[in-house]
Formats: sequence, C-alpha cells, structure tokens
Amino acid sequence: MAIKIGLFGFGTVASGIPFLLKENGDKIGAAAKDNFEIAKVLVKDEAEKNRLQAAGHDYNFVTNVEDIVQDPDIDIVVELMGRIEPAKTFITKALEAGKHVVSANKDLIATHGKEIIALAQEKGLAFYYEAAVAGGIPILRTLANSLTSDKVTRILGVLNGTSNFMMTKMVDEGWTYENALKTAQELGYAESDPTNDVEGIDAAYKAVILSQFGFGMTIDFDDVSHQGISTITPDDVAVAQELGYVIKLVGDVRETASGISAQVSPTFLPKEHPLASVNGVMNAVFVESIGIGQSMYYGPGAGQKPTATSVVADIIRIGRRIVDGNVGKPFNEFSRPTQLANPSDVKSGYYFSLSVPDKKGQILRLAEIFNGQDVSFSQVLQQRGDGKQAKIVIVTHALSLTQLERVKAELEAQSDFTLLNSFKVLGD
Ligand code: HSE
Repeated sequence: MAIKIGLFGFGTVASGIPFLLKENGDKIGAAAKDNFEIAKVLVKDEAEKNRLQAAGHDYNFVTNVEDIVQDPDIDIVVELMGRIEPAKTFITKALEAGKHVVSANKDLIATHGKEIIALAQEKGLAFYYEAAVAGGIPILRTLANSLTSDKVTRILGVLNGTSNFMMTKMVDEGWTYENALKTAQELGYAESDPTNDVEGIDAAYKAVILSQFGFGMTIDFDDVSHQGISTITPDDVAVAQELGYVIKLVGDVRETASGISAQVSPTFLPKEHPLASVNGVMNAVFVESIGIGQSMYYGPGAGQKPTATSVVADIIRIGRRIVDGNVGKPFNEFSRPTQLANPSDVKSGYYFSLSVPDKKGQILRLAEIFNGQDVSFSQVLQQRGDGKQAKIVIVTHALSLTQLERVKAELEAQSDFTLLNSFKVLGD
C-alpha cells in the first residue's frame, strides 16, 4: 500500500513531481521505506480538467477540495496553488481533516505561517515548506539541521530570480529597467503584474521565513522593510561599477545587540563579494555564523524540476516519519521570543546620489550635513556639471537607520538639492 498524496493545483511545479517519483522511484522508496501515489489532483474547474486530460495527464482530477480532504486514504496534501486564498482555506481544511501538508507558498507562510504552524502542531501533523525559499536550494533544512550547532549572525540573499535577471542585464549590458522588465516578461520570468518580484515583496516573504530558521524569530511581514529595483537608473549602475560595486536586490536579516532586523533593498555589493557574481535567474543565500564563518548556498530559485525536488524531499521526510511512527515534528524547532532591532543598532554604509547647484561650496555644505549627523564619507565623486546642476555621489562609512533618516531629512530640507537615490552599501 503506497502513501497517497493529494495535490492542490497542477501547474509547472506540480507537474515536476511525477517526473521525480518515476525517474528516482527506487531511491525515494528506499528513503521513505514506502512508495508514493498521486491519488487525486484538485484543479480549478472542469475546463482545466479537460485541458489537462487532453494534454495526456492521466490523474484523478477533482474540482471540489472536499474530495481530497475528506478522503480517508489520502495522507499528504501538497499545496502548489500559490498566493493567499484559496490556498489558506484549503490548507486549513486539510490540517483540520488530519492530513500532513507540504507547501511552496511563501506568500502564505510569511503572512499566515504562525497560525498554520500552530494548527499543525495542535493536530500532531507535519507542515513542511522547503521549496518556499529559493526553490531548488535546500536552505531551510540546512539551517534547521546542518547548522543546528552554529549561531547564525547574518543571512544575505539574492532571493528573487526575476529581479536578479533584470539587474544582471542592467549591470552587464547597460539595459534600462523598462527593457529588462519587458524581456523578463517575454521570457516568462516576470508575471504580467510584476509587482511582487520587482518591488522586493517576494524577497521579503522569503526573508520572513529565513528569520525563523536562521534566528528562531518569527517576524511579521510588515517588519521587513522592502524597496525594489524599479528606481535604479543606468547612472546608478554605472557609478556603482566605477566605485567597485555591483548593484543587486539583496535580502538582509541580521541580529544586532537589541534584536533582529530584516530588509530587502537594492544593495551595492563589493565586486569581490560572493553574492556579486550570482547572475541571471539564479539565487544564493550567504550565511555568516560563528562556527562555519561564511558559507554560500547557490542554485536555481524557481523552475519546475528544482522546485519539485524540494517539494518531494518534504514528501519523503513525511512519508518516512509516517512509516517510523514519529510524524508531526515541526519543520523548524528553533524558536525564541521575537525581538526587533532598535534602528540605532542597524548599521550599513550608504550611497547617496544628489543633484546640486553647479557652483562653489556644495561639497562643503554636504560635508556639514553629514558631519552634523556624525557620518563619515568613504568615497566622494563629482560628475562634471552643465553650469546649472552637477551630480555628486557620496558613499558613507556605516551609519545607523536613525542617522540615515536624519541625513535624508536634512538633504531634503535643502530646496536647491535633489536626492536622486540612496541605496545600502555592503562592507563600508
Ligand atoms: N518569482 C520568484 C522569482 C520565484 O523570480 O524568484 C518564486 O518565488
């Protein structure tokens, strides 16, 4: 008797599951000490069912979620529908009905994970979601298991393949944001509404989940500050290169003296930083810890087979625990009270790009503003002006978020200065 699976959704990732179960069945069966069978697949409506059947998919397709959650033979439900609803309602129904759940749904886990994990625990059921962060990179289980002896101090990640593809084109080939987005959409990386990818929301969801596994703290999505890549100009990209940096959208979760901080922002990475060479749609998670020191986990953050590989690993782990009679342990057992960092403890270098009047004394005015907030310059660059306006770029040594706000407020208070852009700089 195989362990029976019910799939919620049959999109790109879900259709990679049968491939692995078939092509790697012996190893999977040995690891789980049992075999798996996809018993039912929930699809949206009859039209989708007919389309999938016409395409040669020979499954027991159902259109009513109750056909899966009320089926006593189904042990594991795999949710691959994405977004919040109806996935949240369906997962809740599955757990209420005693099914173990595997999900890749970062949006849902980052925003409602606490209540779903609590329900799974109350019912003694497994709720696993390795594929929710960086698709094919096994980062969650690595943090939960392999780094259990280590203390993580910072996690930096290139966590969104779509925006990383776009940034790579903008940096390597000088493309504009608009052209990069158009191509990302044509290649099917970015959706027609690309907001979650390009505005850092998708990466912020992943940062929430990484904070649980790396730091044992469940921060709320609203506590992750997120800024996307849409305001980055070709000039920012060129200046970054001139100063020895590569701009990427980076998730940054770290523990300071007062607590945890999580940010997603365009970040100037020194060219020699390992994350600076993570290009195209690839993802990477760079972990700083007191034991290993620095380690980086690199791979595809999306895609059918990579993501399905993570999903099937969760299925196997649950299957094996069902067989061994010890199923129901939480995916992540590291938990401590959540403490958010004081903004005065969250420090980084920053890049400021300013348009100022093209006349004497402007660098002096800027020096007074930055010095007044106790901020030290690391690099200063002035581009030749046109007699009216000139552009000045300043990279600072580390300043806190409190200092950053004050410096920005002072710059904005100067009616003849325009703050064009300001981004985080790693390593200054
Ligand atoms: N849309 C995401 C990306 C993949 O581009 O990386 C799923 O989170």
